[in-house]
Amino acid sequence: MTDVEQTEFDTVIDRRGTFASKWEKYRGRDILPFWVADMDFSAPGFILEAVQARLEHGILGYTETPHDLVTTFQTWLQRRHGWSVEEEWLVWLPGVVPGLNLTAKAVASPGGSILIPTPVYHPFLQVAGHVGQASIKVRLARSDVRWEMDFDALGEACDRNTRLFLLSNPQNPTGRVYTLAELTALADFCLRHDLYLCSDEIHCDLVLDESARHIPIASLAPEIAERTISLFAANKTYNIPGLGCAVAVIPDAKLRVNFLSARAGLVHGIGPLAFAACTAAFADTSQWLPTLLEYLRGNLRRLQSLIGNRMTPVEATFLAWIDLRDLGIDHPGTYLEGHGLGLSDGAPFGGPGFVRFNFGCPRTLLDRGIRRFESALCARHEQGS
Ligand SMILES: Cc1ncc(COP(=O)(O)O)c(C=O)c1O
Repeated sequence: MTDVEQTEFDTVIDRRGTFASKWEKYRGRDILPFWVADMDFSAPGFILEAVQARLEHGILGYTETPHDLVTTFQTWLQRRHGWSVEEEWLVWLPGVVPGLNLTAKAVASPGGSILIPTPVYHPFLQVAGHVGQASIKVRLARSDVRWEMDFDALGEACDRNTRLFLLSNPQNPTGRVYTLAELTALADFCLRHDLYLCSDEIHCDLVLDESARHIPIASLAPEIAERTISLFAANKTYNIPGLGCAVAVIPDAKLRVNFLSARAGLVHGIGPLAFAACTAAFADTSQWLPTLLEYLRGNLRRLQSLIGNRMTPVEATFLAWIDLRDLGIDHPGTYLEGHGLGLSDGAPFGGPGFVRFNFGCPRTLLDRGIRRFESALCARHEQGS
C-alpha cells in the first residue's frame, strides 16, 4: 500500500456527541486531540457484528467467561506469540490497569518497593501509592537509536525490600519492542534480585518495525513464568478500549490465589458485549490488522520526517515520544495546546520536556496536526531568536 491509496482508515468519523474522552477534553476549543491512547478508527466490522449479535439476544446480565473466549485466546497467544498457556492460569479482568494494581497488591509486603523504568505509561507511577509501597523510578537510557534498560542503575536502585518490577513491553511511550537478549537480561535480573515481574503486553500486536518481534517475557523459561503476571488485551489493537476486557496470565498457583484474593470485592466482572468483542478480536486472522499496521507505518513516516531525531524510531504502538527539551519550556503540552494541538505532556510519564503524539488517526487529521506542530515549533524558535 502506498501513502496515497485510500483505505477504511482514511475515513474521518466525527466522534463529537459520543462523549469520547479524547475529544471531550477540548470540546468547544480549536484543539486537535492526539493524546489518550485510542485511535480515531472504527473497530473492524467483524467485531461490531459480534457485539450486534450478542445485543440482539436482549438480556445483558452478569456473564461468566465464555469457553470460546478462553480457547480463542489460548490459540491466539500460541499462534501469534508462540506461548502455550493453560486455562487455569487465566484471570479475566475489565482492564489491564486493574491488573497492574492487583499484581502489586498481591505481592506487597510491609516496607516493600516497586521498581519502574521511566518514562512509562503514567498509571504505572501511581501503582505503588495505591498499595502502600514505595516506587523506585529508574530512567531508561537513550542512545541515538533507542531507549534501553540501564541494568547497572536498576541494580543500584533496588534493595532487599524491592518486591516487584513493572514492565511495559512493547513500551509506552518510547515504542520499544525489547529484544530476546534484553528480555533474557531482565529475566536474569529479576531472578537474581528475587523480584516478581508484572509484564504489560497490551501493545504486543501493534509492532510496526518489520525486523522486530514481540516476545512474552514469561515464555522464556519456567522459572521466569512462575514469578510473572503477564497482562494482555485486544483493546489497543482493535480500538475497543472503552469496552473493557483484559486477561492476566498467572502460571504459578500461589501467586494466582494471592491475585484472586487481591481482586475480591474490588474489581467488577466483565460485561457480555466486551466478552463478545474480545472473542471476535482474538479469533481474527483477516487482513484488517495487517492493513492497519501498514497505515500506521505510513503515518509514522510522515511524523518522523517532521520530527527527525527528536524521537527514536517507533518499533511498536501508535505513539511517538518526542523530545522538546531544547525549547526550554516547562510544560510543552500546555504550550502546544496554545497552538491548537492536544498532546500528552511528558511530565506525568516521568519525562518532563517530552510530549507523546498519538498518530492513530486518519491521515488528513494527522496532517493538520503536523502543520500545527510545525508552526508551534517555528513560533518558539522565532521567540528565541
Ligand atoms: C501500556 C498500557 N497499559 C494499559 C493501558 C490501558 O489498559 P486498560 O484500558 O485495559 O486498563 C494502556 C492504554 O493506553 C497502555 O498504553
